[in-house]
Amino acid sequence: MNVSFTQSAEDIKSETASYDTVVVPVFKGGELGQEGTALNKELRELLEDQIALRNGFGKTAGDIRPIDGSENTTPKRFVLVATGQAYDPSTACDAGQGKAVAAALYKHLTAVNAGKTYIAQDFDHAFTNDFSVTLADELNAADYAFDKYKSKAAASKPLDLHFAVADTEAATQDYTKRAAVTEAQKWAKDLTNEPPNKLYPAVYAEQIIQKLAPLGVKVSVIEDEELVKMGAGAISAVGQGSPKSHKPRMVIMEYDGTAGNDADAAPLGLIGKGVTFDTGGISLKPSGSIADMHMDMGGSAMIVGTMMALAGRQAQSKVVAIVGLSDNDIGPDAYKPGDIITSLSGQTIHVGNTDAEGRLVMADCMTYLQQNYKPHTIVDAATLTGAVHSIFGHTYAGVFTNDDTVWSTLETAGKTSGEQGWRLPLHEVFNNAVKHNRADLSNIGGIRFGGGSTAAEFLHHFIEKDENGKETPWAHIDIAGAAMPPGGMANGFGVRMLDQWIADNYEESATATHAQAPSAPKLS
Ligand code: BES
Ligand code: MN
Ligand code: ZN
Repeated sequence: MNVSFTQSAEDIKSETASYDTVVVPVFKGGELGQEGTALNKELRELLEDQIALRNGFGKTAGDIRPIDGSENTTPKRFVLVATGQAYDPSTACDAGQGKAVAAALYKHLTAVNAGKTYIAQDFDHAFTNDFSVTLADELNAADYAFDKYKSKAAASKPLDLHFAVADTEAATQDYTKRAAVTEAQKWAKDLTNEPPNKLYPAVYAEQIIQKLAPLGVKVSVIEDEELVKMGAGAISAVGQGSPKSHKPRMVIMEYDGTAGNDADAAPLGLIGKGVTFDTGGISLKPSGSIADMHMDMGGSAMIVGTMMALAGRQAQSKVVAIVGLSDNDIGPDAYKPGDIITSLSGQTIHVGNTDAEGRLVMADCMTYLQQNYKPHTIVDAATLTGAVHSIFGHTYAGVFTNDDTVWSTLETAGKTSGEQGWRLPLHEVFNNAVKHNRADLSNIGGIRFGGGSTAAEFLHHFIEKDENGKETPWAHIDIAGAAMPPGGMANGFGVRMLDQWIADNYEESATATHAQAPSAPKLS
């Protein structure tokens, strides 16, 4: 797909003549932008006769109305697309709606084989720059297929899109940054779409190195035997039932885009659940819900995708990420319900259910992160519980956090990026529910102890305190539903949200203010 930005045309008629297709965005109330208005004037006969612009069209984002030109008109084809938002130069474009518009437009333009396409926008508003860049970025995101395992891939002509904007340089710069994030999201989709016979810990770790090392991310891998030796008994237990070829890996990624301005500054810490296949273990899952479990590494895909986004757009931030990669297999060596294992933190865990494996994998990653990097804030992402899946379907991610500011900034980033979280409770009751009478902890909370919150409180036991007894600010994002849309095509959920959150709060150029531990001042 080609995307370029071109100066909005003052002489709209001659400008659009060299295009095969002209897309005219229609705002709420049937309003056209400046170019659309100019076009309407120029092509009065063609457009006005056929469009009942104020006749209800334009209410729903993504509504499409194609208008074929006559034999002797250039361009051959017009496409009206409803933006779903008001024409208001004083606001920013709504990303959630941008996505709906782009998805519909992508489908239409591809189906009609649109050729050289002009997106008629305004000449003098930053609003429309933002709108065009958002639309371009979302069209780029919609341009995704996972057909590597089809013997015959469907052939469609790539789109050739030219967006009219007021400031081509600013739009191009902005788009380039957003495209880096979108590429990262596509990588997260690719990883999550891979089947479990192709993507397992050793392969996954190698792909992370291949992708991130050239972008300047330092990647190191701790292999299975080393994990056992260093005492990471929780992730090792989960991987115990796997053959040697599928044993666990812990992958550590360090990115510093602050030009080493303050070498001692604490990093932001990210953790991802990378269960490359979750059978449930001996607490076997019912067959109906197993096949989707190649997506149980969606949390790790969100985290490695975020690292790719940060490095790709050269974010001025300092971040350490760890993903715990493991299969949860069944077999003679598999860990059993009833086992008591020792985590890297030293806390012992009674395994109440081998299907509650994600929290075990995460626990050791969290300990390793804190012991080696002392992050000022921690965010983890995981397809952790069926309970959160049940609550939200594939709409929101569940967010559990010990810090109100972390929540409010994540909520904002969710709204900006169109990938949203919804806060769910941590509570002492759930914290106590994962204590055990013969071990320090249990990996399940017992009947009627809300799955998502119990899982979060289990992880909470692995968040360390500073010398003053203050817990590290931490958010756990359960993406069980959000990252597993119906139909089984991965959506790369969370890369945009997390990248946005970091851009808003942890970059030298960040505008938002954010509370951090006093030992870790804002990186500026
Ligand atoms: N990977 C699953 C959670 C999951 C379920 C994600 C359905 C997406 C869709 C996780 O490992 C799991 O099995 N969790 C159990 C925990 C329970 C045994 C305490 C669950 O939520 O049922
Ligand atoms: Mn499980
Ligand atoms: Zn799982």
